[in-house]
Amino acid sequence: MSVLQTLMKNTYELPGKYKEMSAGEMEGRVREIKAQLGKRLFIPGHHYQKDEVIQFADTTGDSLQLAQVSAANGDAEYIVFCGVHFMAETADILTNENQKVILPDMRAGCSMADMADIHQTERAWEKLQHQFGDTILPLTYVNSTAAIKSFVGKNGGATVTSSNAHKMVEWALEQKERILFLPDQHLGRNTAADLGIALEDMAVWDPITNELLFEGDADQIKVILWKGHCSVHENFTLKNIADVREQSPEMKIIVHPECRREVVEASDDNGSTKYIIETIKKAAPGTSWAIGTEMNLVKRLINEHTDKNIISLNPHMCPCLTMNRIDLPHLLWSLENIVESKPENIIKVDEDVAHNAVLALDRMLARA
Ligand code: 13P
Ligand code: SF4
Repeated sequence: MSVLQTLMKNTYELPGKYKEMSAGEMEGRVREIKAQLGKRLFIPGHHYQKDEVIQFADTTGDSLQLAQVSAANGDAEYIVFCGVHFMAETADILTNENQKVILPDMRAGCSMADMADIHQTERAWEKLQHQFGDTILPLTYVNSTAAIKSFVGKNGGATVTSSNAHKMVEWALEQKERILFLPDQHLGRNTAADLGIALEDMAVWDPITNELLFEGDADQIKVILWKGHCSVHENFTLKNIADVREQSPEMKIIVHPECRREVVEASDDNGSTKYIIETIKKAAPGTSWAIGTEMNLVKRLINEHTDKNIISLNPHMCPCLTMNRIDLPHLLWSLENIVESKPENIIKVDEDVAHNAVLALDRMLARA
């Protein structure tokens, strides 16, 4: 069933009993079901999930780690994925036929992944092939639909995550003269710039107007950036940085590479979700940090590192709304459906799509 069909079928009104139960009752019931299902159940949780959910995760990680654990777990019959839709799709592609991947709330999508649809991508590819010939390798951030991963796999490319983007872009540029980087222009630009590629050698593909935005000699283009972005990380601005520098000059500023180029450049450090977590863990007690990434994670880091002074780079930042769709009532509802042998919200990627998508994922996992 497609996401649209599921959305139309599902009213998203959970049964009334979940409104009446206290958090304590729901937590107790989740614990009971986890004990009852044992190894038949596996709950991966992305670092951007809420605490009320992450407390029940069997493993937590960034996108790359969760793809790796999904590929390695051949046993669990049910994988209840606490993350967003594209991550559950990836888990389905990397697991075997007998395993069911469940997303507790189908509204947990990703606005960035939605910024590249397969029709736009095929249209863009046709035009770009016409202009540049067979000189382009497509790469896609894992934050993309299975259909985009499949397109990339079919055309010899690979997926990347924020923690291996440098390695994957380097690899891609050894294969072909230039790359098409979907769907996050900022991760693509920040990574290519770190690798020494001049901003003038990067073009932007606008999927709405279906045109290449570039000034200068097109033969020079090394990187074609899809015009997509993360609506959460785009909320960190140069003004936020200026405010922190003025009010707390001792603070170190660390941001995720999904932030705009100018924000990354003005920060002290940048890196993937995993890199940010490790940097804060390793930091000396008493140090001060302003972090530019998703708010559930920043709050968790604040609570876990009380010996350090940590704030969000943007004081008005909210959590990722779609990550937040997965909450305790939806997690419990999913688990109760499993024990009643009527699992709902099963994420099943079409076999044809999965066949090529796995090529793109495997090319990344082989180099991760
Ligand atoms: P990573 O887990 O690769 O850092 O990705 C961040 C993100 O935006 C996930 O949706
Ligand atoms: Fe998508 Fe950004 Fe939310 Fe990640 S944080 S799920 S990229 S909208």
